[in-house]
Amino acid sequence: MMKATEYKRRRRQLMTMMGGGSIAILPTAHETIRNRDVHHPYRPDSDFHYLTGFPEPEAVAVLVPGRPHGEFILFCREKDATKEMWDGYRAGLEGAVRDYGADDAFPISDLDDILPGLLEERERVYFAMGSDPGFDQRVSDWVGQVRSRARAGVHGPIEFLALDHYLHDMRLYKSRAEVGAMRTAARISAQAHGELMRRCRPGMYEYQLASLFSHECQMAGAGHLAYPSIVGGGNNACVLHYVENRDALQDGDLVLIDAGCELDYYASDITRTFPVNGCFSDAQRALYELVLEAQHAAIDKVRAGNHWNDPHEAAVRVLTKGLLKLGLLRGTLAKALKSKSYSRFYMHRTGHWLGMDVHDVGDYKIDGHWRELEPGMVLTVEPGLYIPRGSKGVAKKWQGIGIRIEDDVLVTRGDPDVLSRDVPKSVDAIEALMTHVR
Ligand code: GLY
Ligand code: MN
Ligand code: MN
Repeated sequence: MMKATEYKRRRRQLMTMMGGGSIAILPTAHETIRNRDVHHPYRPDSDFHYLTGFPEPEAVAVLVPGRPHGEFILFCREKDATKEMWDGYRAGLEGAVRDYGADDAFPISDLDDILPGLLEERERVYFAMGSDPGFDQRVSDWVGQVRSRARAGVHGPIEFLALDHYLHDMRLYKSRAEVGAMRTAARISAQAHGELMRRCRPGMYEYQLASLFSHECQMAGAGHLAYPSIVGGGNNACVLHYVENRDALQDGDLVLIDAGCELDYYASDITRTFPVNGCFSDAQRALYELVLEAQHAAIDKVRAGNHWNDPHEAAVRVLTKGLLKLGLLRGTLAKALKSKSYSRFYMHRTGHWLGMDVHDVGDYKIDGHWRELEPGMVLTVEPGLYIPRGSKGVAKKWQGIGIRIEDDVLVTRGDPDVLSRDVPKSVDAIEALMTHVR
C-alpha cells in the first residue's frame, strides 16, 4: 500500500500546476458486467487511483485549488449496513475524510446538485473529455447550469483542459515508492517465470503453465495479473496476442510466456521463451541468441539523454544483421533497414512505458521528436522474432518458432536498472534450470 502522504503529494503537485481559479473533476471506473449479474473483478481507474488511493467504484474526485472549505472533495457511496453485509466494506463519507485525506466528502448521489456550485467562479476546468461519454454529458450539463445564471452575475468556466494530459506526464516519472512497488511486482513475476521453467514438461497444456503462473503470483501476495497471460507453444508463439492457451506443449518446440502480475496497482510485464524439453535445438538456439543479443543492445540504450527510439533502433539493427547472416533476409544491411524487410519477422515495437497500466500513459514524442529518456521512467524492452509455419521461401528448420524476451527497465542517472533481472535468460542458464526434463 502506498502511504497517504504519497497521494497527497501528487494532488499538491497537480494543484500547483493547475493554479488558482481552476477545478479538476475525475471519476473512477465503472463496474463492468461479465454476464447477467456477475461482475468482472473491480479495478479503479488508474488516474483516479493515482490521485486518491480510493479503491471503491461510484466515486468522483474534485480538486479545487485554494478553496477555503477544502481543496480535495471526494464524492462516494455512503455507508450502508445491509449492502456492506452482502458486498463488503464501504469507507463512507467519514472514511473518505479519515482514511483518504479528503477535506470534504459528499454522497455520490448528490453530485448533480453540488457540482454546478463548485464550478462557479472557476475559470479553468481540468477534465478528461472523451473517456466516458455519459460523464462528458453530465459535465456539459453542469457547465450549462452555471452559464444559465450569467444574468445573476455568476461567472462560469471559460477554458477546458485535458486533465489526462497533465496527469499522464506526472505518471511517467515514477517516485521512489512507485519504483519500489514495480520492483516487487517484477520480482514476484520473475520468480513465477523461473518456476514455470522448472515445472514445464512435454505434454503439459499451455493453460497449466498459465495457471501455475497465476498461482505463484497469488501465493506471493499479488492478487491480480496485469493482463491475461500469453502461453504459446511452437507455432502459437507467432500469434502476438495469443491468449487461448489451450494446446498441449510438444517435445522439441519452444514455449513463449508473456505474463506479469499487478502489485499495489503497478504492473510488471515479462516474457521468456524456452524449450519445452529443456534443450534448445540448433535452429532455436541461433534465433534465440539473436533475439537476446538484440535485447542486450536495446537495454544498453536505456540511458538518460538517449531518446525513446534508441533502444528500438539498436534492436532492429542487431536483428536485421543476424537475419541476413542466417540467410533469412537477403541484400545489404543498409537496404534491409531502409526497406524494413525485417518487419516480416519483427513486426512490433521494442517496448512501451510501464506503470499503473501495462501499456502505460505518457507521450512518446514531443513536438514531433522522440522523447528523451529521463531518470524515473520505466519501460519494457521486448524484441522478438516470429516465423510462422508455412512462411514462404523460408527453410523448414526455422518455421514454427516465435521468440520474445521482455524485461522491465528503469531509467537511472547511470546504468539501466533491469527490474525483472531475476529470471534467467541466457541459453546456458535456462538449460541448467531445466535439467529435470532430460
Ligand atoms: N504483455 C503485453 C506486452 O508485452 O506489450
Ligand atoms: Mn510489453
Ligand atoms: Mn508482455
